[in-house]
Amino acid sequence: MCGIIGRIGSGNALDHLLTGLENLEYRGYDSAGVAVQNGAGIEIRKRSGRVSELEETIDAPEGRVGIGHTRWSTHGPPTDENAHPHTDATEDVAVVHNGIVENHADLRNRLADRGHDFTSDTDTEVIPHLVQANLDAGFDNEAAFRRAVEELEGSYAVAVMIAGDHTIYAARSGSPLVVGVDDDAGEYYLASDVPAFLEYTDRVVYLEDGDVAIIGPDGADFTDLAGEPVPRTPETIDWDPEQAGKGEYDHFMLKEIYEQPTSLAQAVEGRIDDGIDLEEFPPGAFEGIDRVQFVACGTSYHAAMYGALSLTQAGVDARALLANEYGASSPPVDDRTLVVAVTQSGETADTLSALRRAVRKGARTVTVTNVVGSTAAREADDSLLIRAGPEIGVAATKTFSSQAVALTLLAGRIVEDALAGDGLSDLDSLLAAADRLPGDIERLLTESDAAEIARRYRDSRSYFFLGRGQGYPVALEGALKFKEITYEHAEGFASGELKHGPLALVTEETPVFTVFTGIEDDRTLANAEEAATRGAPVIAICPADHPAADVADAHLEIPETDPRLAGLLANVQLQLLSYHAAELLDRPIDKPRNLAKSVTVE
Ligand code: F6R
Repeated sequence: MCGIIGRIGSGNALDHLLTGLENLEYRGYDSAGVAVQNGAGIEIRKRSGRVSELEETIDAPEGRVGIGHTRWSTHGPPTDENAHPHTDATEDVAVVHNGIVENHADLRNRLADRGHDFTSDTDTEVIPHLVQANLDAGFDNEAAFRRAVEELEGSYAVAVMIAGDHTIYAARSGSPLVVGVDDDAGEYYLASDVPAFLEYTDRVVYLEDGDVAIIGPDGADFTDLAGEPVPRTPETIDWDPEQAGKGEYDHFMLKEIYEQPTSLAQAVEGRIDDGIDLEEFPPGAFEGIDRVQFVACGTSYHAAMYGALSLTQAGVDARALLANEYGASSPPVDDRTLVVAVTQSGETADTLSALRRAVRKGARTVTVTNVVGSTAAREADDSLLIRAGPEIGVAATKTFSSQAVALTLLAGRIVEDALAGDGLSDLDSLLAAADRLPGDIERLLTESDAAEIARRYRDSRSYFFLGRGQGYPVALEGALKFKEITYEHAEGFASGELKHGPLALVTEETPVFTVFTGIEDDRTLANAEEAATRGAPVIAICPADHPAADVADAHLEIPETDPRLAGLLANVQLQLLSYHAAELLDRPIDKPRNLAKSVTVE
């Protein structure tokens, strides 16, 4: 996820571009840059760091037309070279891009063979080179742009400027793009999202996949890639600029819950072929590993538990350990041990400390993170990105599901090497379910009864969450989310543990949310019934025709899927439950008291 802005109008473009980038920082903030067009050609200013750092350090290039970008790295660390806009060798073409060019390696090799030199590690840099190659071949500016876009595979929202041409060429496929229209002032904007230009105009055209927008001093033309006009008319939106980063949502947390179909599609993009295909870890990458330890904290620890289960269920020695207990528990580590640090931010002090301990002990290390170039990513031997995009709400939501999916794929690769060729059982079923996951979540989000359930049980004394197998970390995560943002007492248990003590707390005032994944569900149901016998309302999270749905007091439905991914669907229901419960209590959902997004002290 990155943020794009473009602007054409009278007067200097720079202020509008920088304001736009600041308003888009929720989409990424590890580097920023602008390009403006004036009599001298295209002038580019860019650097790693936040938009404010760009603003403080640049001289102000003048020009009426410009594009800008705020980056969340996916290919290449956040360096000045990797910041957008990217350009070709002549610096006559400037490009900003959001998405992933999946065939960038092929395009890069082909262009390099034809003498093009590349200066960054990004997938984006192939785009200005493609445009320039088309210009060199004699195509006019528009044709050079269209032909370049036709060659891109993957997802993109892209904006291009060509020296001497006061036009912004833009196209969308799989990543958002919106045009802002102010005919009275003769100003036109292009952005990843409306907040970028909302203080200048509230008239917008949302581009659809396959659309091309050509924006000049007199307005915008909309066509498909082949050049056929498409009917797109501006609509007026009534958002408050203050609120705008959250779009139609009241809180970032809710926005991020609803982003999961997209973030999960990104987590698996290009990683599932006939089997599991991780560019970072080709077959053989984990040869010689006979023990795996995951280290993490909080929500990431629950995702780590989730990942570890895929390994133990396949017969590989694996454990998830709390990073802050790693030193004290001192588990055996040697050069045949793989230690996987799971950390959204890549900066959690407890997790870094565990990772450093593993490095000292001679382990092979991998970081699974959302942040390219974070400390944990730099200090581990290798890293795997979860590609969730920035998460602003303090309570982790979309990053948990992306971590769990990325770890399940990683576990699949480890199993293939550790068991010398034998992969995860029923791999086809798992991969098909991973492919379906974004659509399943999309459906669940539109049909969820979580708001009604939150209302029904709002006056309870305590909230319990039960699960087994992959449902157990989901129960822990459900309880963590609930207590974190509602400030109500909530506990998660392995369902079989209930009768070993916690049952003493169960009354008619303790609703028991029970996750059914398809793994030993009859036992889980028996555990839920032990609570029901003591008067507790049981809320089953399971498919519609599951036996638990009939016997429970209430039901949160999830689509039928592979048991190893069913927990992630249940988790979305529990995220919504916590959100709505916190909303009823009027809690500051995005910034719960006493908590920080990144905990950089031990
Ligand atoms: C809970 C939450 C925290 C983090 C934990 C680890 O909603 O967000 O529990 O999961 O502080 O943070 P990372 O993943 O950045 O290491």
